[in-house]
Amino acid sequence: MKMRNSSIDGVRGRFFDFSKSVGQQSNFEGTVRYVEDGLLLLKEGHIEWFGDWSEGREQVPEGARIHEYPDKVIVPGFIDCHIHFPQAEIIAAYGEQLLEWLNNYAFPAEKQYGDKSYSMEMAEVFVAELLRNGTTTAAVFCTVHQQSAEALFAAAQRVNMRVIAGKVMMDRDAPPGLLDTPATAYDDSRLLIEKYHNQGRLLYAVTPRFAPTSTPEQLAVAGRLVQEYPNLYMQTHLSENIAEIEWVQELFPDRESYLDVYEHYGLTGPRSIFGHCIHLEDAEWTGLFDTDSVIAFCPTSNLFLGSGLFDLERARREDVRVGMATDVGGGTSFSILSSLSEAYKVMQLQRQKFSAFEAFYMATLGGAEALSLDHLLGNFNVGKEADFVVLDPAATVLQAKRSEKSKNIADLLFALMVLGDDRTVFRTYVDGRLVHRRE
Ligand code: GUN
Ligand code: ZN
Repeated sequence: MKMRNSSIDGVRGRFFDFSKSVGQQSNFEGTVRYVEDGLLLLKEGHIEWFGDWSEGREQVPEGARIHEYPDKVIVPGFIDCHIHFPQAEIIAAYGEQLLEWLNNYAFPAEKQYGDKSYSMEMAEVFVAELLRNGTTTAAVFCTVHQQSAEALFAAAQRVNMRVIAGKVMMDRDAPPGLLDTPATAYDDSRLLIEKYHNQGRLLYAVTPRFAPTSTPEQLAVAGRLVQEYPNLYMQTHLSENIAEIEWVQELFPDRESYLDVYEHYGLTGPRSIFGHCIHLEDAEWTGLFDTDSVIAFCPTSNLFLGSGLFDLERARREDVRVGMATDVGGGTSFSILSSLSEAYKVMQLQRQKFSAFEAFYMATLGGAEALSLDHLLGNFNVGKEADFVVLDPAATVLQAKRSEKSKNIADLLFALMVLGDDRTVFRTYVDGRLVHRRE
């Protein structure tokens, strides 16, 4: 990635985004914005002007660097609300459900990140892979090792990418080499918070892996950090797998539910992101709503690990924010487009609908709302951070044929998401700079 001086003044092409929040009713009327020949003007990594080319052309200064994409579709950068940096290399590991998969694949892979140079090498691979897939904002789990978070933050900072990340806290039920203590988890997390939280576009998430791998003392420490630093994020896993839920009941017999464990230690709230939430009880749905907590929907992972089908319609009814997520390496693709496609199938199996507008909303402005970043990014409104993706409706011979037949923009977007993957991502821009160019 050699991007530093590739900043540009604007982009001309076909744009699609959502101009404002659709609200709980998912009302897309007046929010869908489709500009067939549009212009996006940029200044210092932000959007300075957006509209029709015919209106905007007059403002383009002589000699301005304008990238033109007449046959493409330009959308805001994709947002991945839950992904594991140290699992990239064990993506697609055969044959297990969650707890066995953790022991047999995830933990051995994560051990390697005790090695600083390995962490640094993989952080570059990881960030490049996000950008290749059009993901410009991500909430990321690192390993228990402080240097894994250092490596990731440094790699993200090099392209000035918006990343929320944290060192995993884990002080029991994991192999040696992957354990911290309540005290070291507190000290190491604090150090990282002081160094990275709100530095440029970086944000910190307190990251207890999940209730089974943290003692009550460690969960208390996590809650203390969240209290001590305003606007920190908290990310963890919740109610993904039946055996996991039973284990939590055994470990925390005094708590009313899995969510209640987190609630008890002060880990719920508007910046708390809970991965999966497949098997929630009624009281847990209420608890998520009452605390304005957020769910990360991880369809490829939920199918791959056989965890179950997430009930997105219920989440809408309960008015709980949901963001799209890959959950690599339990998830099987870095591509948010592929994740939307699998989400569609998860919904089909439950007789629920998932339109292209809903899907692209979740991947962009909806994701920004889930991460409380919608005042900064998620669409092309003036003043927003200039992160966007140029999609190629003719990325493959088949896609080209299908795109030719599309009846309208909704149909084109639907085919893009169902057939799409990293090949569909022609260019990725972060902070107004070109950071990925498909070969
Ligand atoms: N629960 C606790 N840790 C993990 C993880 O790494 N991946 C998934 N999918 N679930 C988890
Ligand atoms: Zn996960």
